[in-house]
Parts: sequence; structure tokens; C-alpha cells
Amino acid sequence: MSRKIIIDTDPGQDDAVAILLALASPQELDVLAIVAVAGNVGLHHNATNARKIVELAGRSDIPVYAGCSGPMRRTLVTAEHVHGETGLDGPDLPDPTVPLQTQHGVDYIIDTLMAAAPGTITLCALGPLTNIAMALIKQPAIAARIAEIVLMGGAYFEVGNITPAAEFNIYVDPEAADVVMRCGAPITMLPLDVTHQMQSTPARLAAMLAIGNNSATAAHAMLTFSETFDLVKYGWAGAPLHDPTVIAFLLLPELFEGRRCNVSIETTSELTRGMTVADYWHVTNRDRNVNYLRNGDAEGFYDLLLDRLARLP
Ligand code: BDR
Ligand code: CA
Repeated sequence: MSRKIIIDTDPGQDDAVAILLALASPQELDVLAIVAVAGNVGLHHNATNARKIVELAGRSDIPVYAGCSGPMRRTLVTAEHVHGETGLDGPDLPDPTVPLQTQHGVDYIIDTLMAAAPGTITLCALGPLTNIAMALIKQPAIAARIAEIVLMGGAYFEVGNITPAAEFNIYVDPEAADVVMRCGAPITMLPLDVTHQMQSTPARLAAMLAIGNNSATAAHAMLTFSETFDLVKYGWAGAPLHDPTVIAFLLLPELFEGRRCNVSIETTSELTRGMTVADYWHVTNRDRNVNYLRNGDAEGFYDLLLDRLARLP
């Protein structure tokens, strides 16, 4: 039986590839909806981009919702310098025709979890955690009904990418991340420690382009655009690929390794705002609230991604 998931996202080229990977895997994953959140760029662009991606994958039946337009208590920080003005610069995708749902994304998350049997819906978080935190605050009873929250965010050994101390998704809305970390639902984190290992090298991008279908060709254009900034920044052979690790973990968890430990969020310091303090060595007695993944098999990850992209239109 396929696992029911809701994808909460700020697409985002790497978010888009994650959504494509999920939509290419219907035997394992039943994507109930996509909920947009403000992050890489503004909410309006992210919601439009999500609609473009479901159409690209030939899945106009997947409903797309818009959630929160900014963090809980902070001014929105965006990343046009990485993702372009639209957030999805690179491929030339047509304007979407599938309508945006009228219900607010936070209410959709609450209603869906409250209506389903407990433990049957997994939340996949690919952007700032604003929508999920707001849903937890508005209806705390959802915490006990979430099967798992699998999120791309944070870093411990690789520390930060938007500041020296913080990863972008957590930095943008640290108060939301704090709410999520304390909510009591099972949490798996895919931090920079893993995603920095998943480098989109020229050979891997060439293999993506060689697939030849519309989805893989667009994914290649997206990643070719978004890696420009990172290649200069890191000087590596390929740019990190972040958000698809969340979906890859659901499909092939054996590609990843880590351990349960406490993760707490820095919300008060300006210098280290949004730092994910992971007690990886268990030096405290704090609650082991997170399955913290530290390493991943990059070859296995790209084999999976390329195999699944080839199944799309
Ligand atoms: C995260 O930030 C965004 O720019 C990416 O889409 C990813 O979710 C990486 O830090
Ligand atoms: Ca993202």
C-alpha cells in the first residue's frame, strides 16, 4: 500500500525535483496535495511554481494550496540570488492552468489530518516550517495524528549555508522550527550534512538530460540554473541537491544513516539565529526528538532519481 504524503514546499528548483521524484513513484507514495509556503521567493511565485510542476508531471489532479506568506514572527528572507526572480528560473514552463485551491493551506493540513486515521499521513517539509507550525498551534491535536514529519533543514557538522551557523529553511522561520521540534510527532531530518554529499556533478546532470522526456529535461534546466551560485560558493565538482533527499528517504531509507538525538533550535541569538543544535553524541539527557541523518549514499540516490524521472512524461 502506498504511503500518503502532503508536500509542504517553496519551489524552488530542488523542491521541484523532489516533487517530480514523488509523483514518479505512485506505487510507494500517494501525494495527497502540495502546500506552498513563503521561502525561496514569495508565496505567490511558490504557489504558481507548484502548479507548473504538477502539470509538467502530467498530474493536474494533485491539488495545490497556498499557505503562509511569511514567517511567524520575522520578516521574510528570500533567496532570489540562488533560485532567480521566479524561484524556478531555468526551464521555460508554460503558465499553469490548474487552479489554486481556495482553502488556506494550513486549514487543509489540519482538516486532512483530523479526518484521516491517526498515523496514516506523513508531512514532507521542503521549505521553512511556517505552515506546519501554524497548523500545530491552531489545532494541537494534529501532533498525535501525524505519521511522521520528514524535513529538509538544519545542519550540524556542515553548520550553515545562509549564515555561518544556520541552514536556510530553519533560519527563515526559527520559531516555527522550534514549534515543530517540540511537537512530539516522529521527525526525520535531512540536514546539509547529507545534502552536501549529494552533488549534481556534470556526469549526473548529463545522465538526467539524456533521459529525454519533458520532466527530466526541465529538471536538468532547473539544476543547471540553480547550481551556478553554489559552484562558485563551494568550489565543488557539483552543487548540493537538498530537497529530493526527503522523498528518497521515503522510497529507500537504507540509502541514509544517522541516529536518534535531540535537536533544539536557536531562536534568541542574532549571531546564531536558526542554528540546529544536534546532541549527536548524547551529551545531554534531552529528549531524543529527531531521527538525525548524517550520511547518504550519493550513487544510490542519483540512481534512484534518474530511474524515477525516466518514468514521467
Ligand atoms: C534549502 O533552502 C532552499 O533554498 C532549498 O530549496 C532547500 O530547501 C537548502 O538550504
Ligand atoms: Ca526548498
